[in-house]
Amino acid sequence: MAMAPKRTTPLAAVVAVTALLLGLCRGDVVQFIFGDSLSDVGNNNYLTKEPCPRRDAVIQRFSLYKQIELFQGTQAFMREKMGTAAADKFFSEARYVVAMGANDFINNYLLPVYSDSWTYTGDTFVKYMVNTLEAQLKLLHTLGARRLTFFGLGPMGCIPLQRYLTSTGACQESTNKLAKAFNAQAGAMVARLSSELANATFRFGEAYDFFQDIIDRPYMHGFNNSRAPCCTLGRIRPTLTCTPLSTLCKDRSQYVFWDEYHPTDRANELIALETLRKLNITVINNGTSS
Ligand SMILES: *[C@@H]1O[C@H](CO)[C@@H](O)[C@H](O)[C@H]1NC(C)=O
Ligand SMILES: *[C@@H]1O[C@H](CO)[C@@H](O)[C@H](O)[C@H]1NC(C)=O
Ligand SMILES: *[C@@H]1O[C@H](CO)[C@@H](O)[C@H](O)[C@H]1NC(C)=O
Ligand SMILES: *[C@@H]1O[C@H](CO)[C@@H](O)[C@H](O)[C@H]1NC(C)=O
Repeated sequence: MAMAPKRTTPLAAVVAVTALLLGLCRGDVVQFIFGDSLSDVGNNNYLTKEPCPRRDAVIQRFSLYKQIELFQGTQAFMREKMGTAAADKFFSEARYVVAMGANDFINNYLLPVYSDSWTYTGDTFVKYMVNTLEAQLKLLHTLGARRLTFFGLGPMGCIPLQRYLTSTGACQESTNKLAKAFNAQAGAMVARLSSELANATFRFGEAYDFFQDIIDRPYMHGFNNSRAPCCTLGRIRPTLTCTPLSTLCKDRSQYVFWDEYHPTDRANELIALETLRKLNITVINNGTSS
């Protein structure tokens, strides 16, 4: 994720999506990306040929509220540099991307060690997430965000970590049900905000069914493995991150998942393209991955 104005090389789903959005209107439109680590599978570090992508672990751990607070700091800085009027124009013309939720689900609700899973049922947790998100999107609007895209969840119950936790290795259907419920409610909320808030064009993007199809029929999409992560630590599973000690699969482009949580570059690219297609955004240049 990024707190600073960012013009990225498109490599991961959200980064790719936003860069493609940018490609539609070159010039000085800047984008701000808010999200958790699952929205930042790749960043420019991916370009280096390190065995594992480096991630900005510190910033990812910030909550969306904290990220918004940092964004306010950026705004104050820009107002000082550019003057209030120019800064306000700049921030109202920028694109905003918010991708949030998967970490909250996976790391808070789904792991019983955290208290959230004791205080919420699935339904009330989804409502809590959507209500929190609504407050955060409204806050971004008061801070000047007018063009914003929110990305929903994929079939989280099928990530390798979740499969590992089922006895059969099947997807956790209860987790997928939560993701679907979240998408339905978040999508409705985003559409409502878009019509209620002044001058707002807020859109909801997701490719849940497409992602599920890649998992169910990997061969149809050019993959050979949609169950195991490419990056493992020998037979030890689950390993929470990919480290320099990890073992990599021979051909990562054959794998849907890079590690226990994250899709590979190639899976991300396909999902990003499908998400854009559903948003009726024409992709001008898709030549971003080898
Ligand atoms: C909405 O857009 C109009 C026209 O650009 C502008 O005059 C008005 O101040 C905007 N309102 C808000 C709340 O951004
Ligand atoms: C796919 O995986 C199977 C075993 O898991 C292997 O036999 C086969 O060669 C692989 N195909 C490709 C195209 O990599
Ligand atoms: C995309 O276009 C199709 C057909 O023109 C329309 O039915 C659909 O609502 C549009 N979707 C979005 C997100 O604008
Ligand atoms: C992306 O571009 C390549 C050629 O550069 C083309 O073969 C492929 O079909 C395109 N994919 C999509 C989803 O448009």
